[in-house]
Amino acid sequence: MSKKTAFVCEVCGYETSKWMGKCPRCASWDTIKEHKLDKEEFRITEKPVTISDEELPEERVILGLTEMDRVLGGGLVCGSSILLGGDPGIGKTTVCFAIASRMIELGYEVLYISGEESLRQLSSRKRRLNIKDPFSILATNRLEDILGALSEKTYRLVIIDSIQSVYNSMLPMLPGSIGQIKDVSSRLIMEMKKSETTHIIIGHVTKEGAIAGPKVLEHMVDTVLYFEGDKMLPYRMLRTIKNRYGSVDEVGIFQMQKDGLANVDNPSEFFISERADIGAGSALFPHITGSRPILLEVQSVIPKTTFSIPKRVSLGYDPNRLFIIIAVIEKALGKPFFDRDVYVNITGGLKVNEPAVDLAVAASILSSYKDVNIGADTALFGEVGLTGEIRKVMSMDIRLKECERLGIKKVFCPKGVEKIGGIEIVPVKNVKELYGHIV
Ligand SMILES: Nc1ncnc2c1ncn2[C@@H]1O[C@H](COP(=O)(O)OP(=O)(O)O)[C@@H](O)[C@H]1O
Ligand SMILES: [Mg+2]
Repeated sequence: MSKKTAFVCEVCGYETSKWMGKCPRCASWDTIKEHKLDKEEFRITEKPVTISDEELPEERVILGLTEMDRVLGGGLVCGSSILLGGDPGIGKTTVCFAIASRMIELGYEVLYISGEESLRQLSSRKRRLNIKDPFSILATNRLEDILGALSEKTYRLVIIDSIQSVYNSMLPMLPGSIGQIKDVSSRLIMEMKKSETTHIIIGHVTKEGAIAGPKVLEHMVDTVLYFEGDKMLPYRMLRTIKNRYGSVDEVGIFQMQKDGLANVDNPSEFFISERADIGAGSALFPHITGSRPILLEVQSVIPKTTFSIPKRVSLGYDPNRLFIIIAVIEKALGKPFFDRDVYVNITGGLKVNEPAVDLAVAASILSSYKDVNIGADTALFGEVGLTGEIRKVMSMDIRLKECERLGIKKVFCPKGVEKIGGIEIVPVKNVKELYGHIV
């Protein structure tokens, strides 16, 4: 071991060999402090091995929390590393308590590490969420305490709530700084990967989320889940951003209740519950997210503009695609929209990335333009090409089945789609033809 001195920025972790008044990376003043380094000597600890198909099978625990199992790609993979991000107060602790409680019920050893709440708070939360089984809790902020607990006993699941609250006292950076988050999480992940302990790391998304938040850990973990939703509304969405064990566009939908989060088993009914009041500018669209279809509502309003440059606002739909759709409609109708604002919204807060929604967006804009209802029992799907042609999309049969299940009578879609059940199929060749259908 050789002792060495370095100068490290307390805020961003920038390292330099001499003292400076201002950090050249993050531009903070007087944050560079002297720090003793213990450099380990170079040594080899692991050698390459050969693995065959039979060895090291992937082991999963089905939690029985259907929406959670879904976003994880079919249950919790043993030994995996999961990052759960989200705004403060969105329900991260609540959902992790539910997972921990299920794992305990299934007979696994679980450790819940909380750097945010005291034992008293955690115990009242346990009572409120109606969790009966005993719970192992470690209330600490110190990395040393956590590493100590992990070395004493092997757990099947460890939850760290939250990574921003844990710090390494040997480092000169402030708790919650990027340097601390990176150091603490890499040590913890490495330790738990070695012992094949499944772990969930909670990270708050802050205003500076892109740099100081859980984003810096995304590459270190196997699965990244983000918890989203409007705190004023009772439902929450759990979205997969990265998954080494499953599809990345799965969405889990939960309802926030007094005693915790409940699964929403039938999201289509949930997203279009106000269907009876559907008016002009509204179009239903069978969306495929991950492994399941969800019927969504696209709404548009296109008032006369009062701005010198008309506004184009799109929520839940790619703004660039909206520009394309508007251009295609303008060409098909031979009428420019420069005197109108265009506002498009996918209701319920879901973000739709697939081009299959184009036809519904175009229809909702045209319906608003003509001030004509498309109807509560009509749905649309198809990609709109640059020449206005309607193109085929994936999983058309699954979309039609979901429409049929929800009582949709008529579906506008690309040509060549086979009929399913009693649904009337209306093939649409291009945007001009679509315009003619909206009467
Ligand atoms: N003691 C409590 N009593 C009633 N509701 C609570 C209590 N604590 C939290 N909640 C509700 O649960 C929601 C989620 O809280 P929590 O799981 O602590 O969020 P997070 O861990 O993401 O910050 C809160 O927005 C609040 O509505
Ligand atoms: Mg919390």
